Amino acid sequence: MESKSNLVLILDYGSQYTHLITRRIRSLSVFSLCISGTSSLKSITDLNPSVIILSGGPHSVHAPHAPCFPDGFVEYVESHNVFVLGICYGLQLIVQKLGGVVDVGEKQEYGKMVIEVVGDKGLFGGKSVGDKQVVWMSHGDEAVKLPNGFEVVARSEQGAVAAVECAERRFYGLQYHPEVTHSPEGMDLLRHFLFDICGVSAGWKMEDVMEEEIKVIKSMVGPDDHVICALSGGVDSTVAATLVHKAIGDRLHCIFVDNGLLRYKEQERVMGTFERDLHLPVTCVDASVQFLSELKGVTDPERKRKIIGKEFISIFDAFAHDLEKKLGTKPTYLVQGTLYPDVIESCPPPGSGRTHSHTIKSHHNVGGLPKDMKLKLIEPLKLLFKDEVRELGRILDVPVAFLKRHPFPGPGLAVRIPGDVTQGNALDILRQVDEIFIQAIRDAGIYDEIWQAFAVFLPIKTTGVQGDQRTHSNAVALRAVTSQDGMTADWYYFEHKFLDDVSRKICNSVRGVNRVCLDITSKPPSTIEWE
Ligand code: XMP
Repeated sequence: MESKSNLVLILDYGSQYTHLITRRIRSLSVFSLCISGTSSLKSITDLNPSVIILSGGPHSVHAPHAPCFPDGFVEYVESHNVFVLGICYGLQLIVQKLGGVVDVGEKQEYGKMVIEVVGDKGLFGGKSVGDKQVVWMSHGDEAVKLPNGFEVVARSEQGAVAAVECAERRFYGLQYHPEVTHSPEGMDLLRHFLFDICGVSAGWKMEDVMEEEIKVIKSMVGPDDHVICALSGGVDSTVAATLVHKAIGDRLHCIFVDNGLLRYKEQERVMGTFERDLHLPVTCVDASVQFLSELKGVTDPERKRKIIGKEFISIFDAFAHDLEKKLGTKPTYLVQGTLYPDVIESCPPPGSGRTHSHTIKSHHNVGGLPKDMKLKLIEPLKLLFKDEVRELGRILDVPVAFLKRHPFPGPGLAVRIPGDVTQGNALDILRQVDEIFIQAIRDAGIYDEIWQAFAVFLPIKTTGVQGDQRTHSNAVALRAVTSQDGMTADWYYFEHKFLDDVSRKICNSVRGVNRVCLDITSKPPSTIEWE
């Protein structure tokens, strides 16, 4: 039999925690991938996993078209000694498909619950019968008759089935989520399951990922091929370019576009990092006049975004064509900093109502590809999560302060000036206010606690009094949020003194501002950006 890959494969049935299982397993230095729960048998067997986890999901196994693993799955895992762990919906699938009976529950509910170990082996090895632990249980359907050979190894205090197993056939199931922090002993269980029961070894390291990616890039890009990359100043494109540069050297050609919508001294700062710290071959194009003249008088947020995207493509197009003239050959590849959540996102789980669409994100900074270039993609980060990209960046000597930068939207300050971005000296005022705010956050040592912080220019004038004079000047707003992934966010709570100091400093040193407001809305109902 072929040797095992040490891969833990997750079949996704739509649980909101599926990504989290993948990340938790990777944090144990075990490589884990997540694919759709209805993938073909071939796509599962091609990956040759050691362990398969069937995720939770919002469905009932009794629903018409309830998603399920493919025909031949059980025969495959049994004949190849693959261990299977079902979580919630995954447990119900195992019970139903292996000959047990699942009763329909009224509705799907989640909650903290105490469970008690009732079998002293297998999943809870190391624990004694009678040991209790708190878990985040998911109640829905209930397993009322187990398949032959299965036994209950934990029950809730109310007597519901919490964990089952059939060690002989290597099938295990949990009716709770071990991956969430509400199950404090969940990681211990996963560790015990993977290392002691399944015999997986912990050898997955970021250094190996880097070496492997470099090998892949070298073998993919021919010796005369040239590669282009647009740098946004963000972590993902920078790490992706640095990795490709390590693999193919100066056959990588990067472009950084100053669109006139960047933060204070952004061009100098990022170019300094690209050139001085990373030695990346970067062409810096100052296209601010071009962008701002196209944006003059435009007030609709979506139109602003479209214009910025279109201008970007035309500059990128010109860059690629100039390069072709200079090199005497067309660039063949384009580097993109696509991350794993984007890849999973484009392959939505069954039953989610969304369809497969592996396209470049419409709001991606590149915005699209030059029409006639027919570039092939290199996406060296496409299996990594954001924190793993930071770790890879650290190994590649990207300065740590750079790796911790807050995200910045592609359309830049245009989405932080409601209305016409070219009005008066809005951009200039905004840059100064933003810089004071961010510097104060850094000085207070709280930059890393915050997901994103920035200032917004308010296109209204209010009355103030500065010195002995009445003023009629602009107001600005400050926004800072905490978030895991930008999908939801909470407003950040600043100390009174911090806000007082920042507000005074802004009004005293930025001409044209006499009022500072604080945005205290979370997402939802607000978005993070104002436009
Ligand atoms: P919202 O404002 O939708 O933002 O809550 C969520 C995250 O996405 C960023 N963002 C963008 N990034 N192009 C980008 O590259 C965009 O058009 C865009 N709009 C929002 C935002 O900064 C936050 O991190």
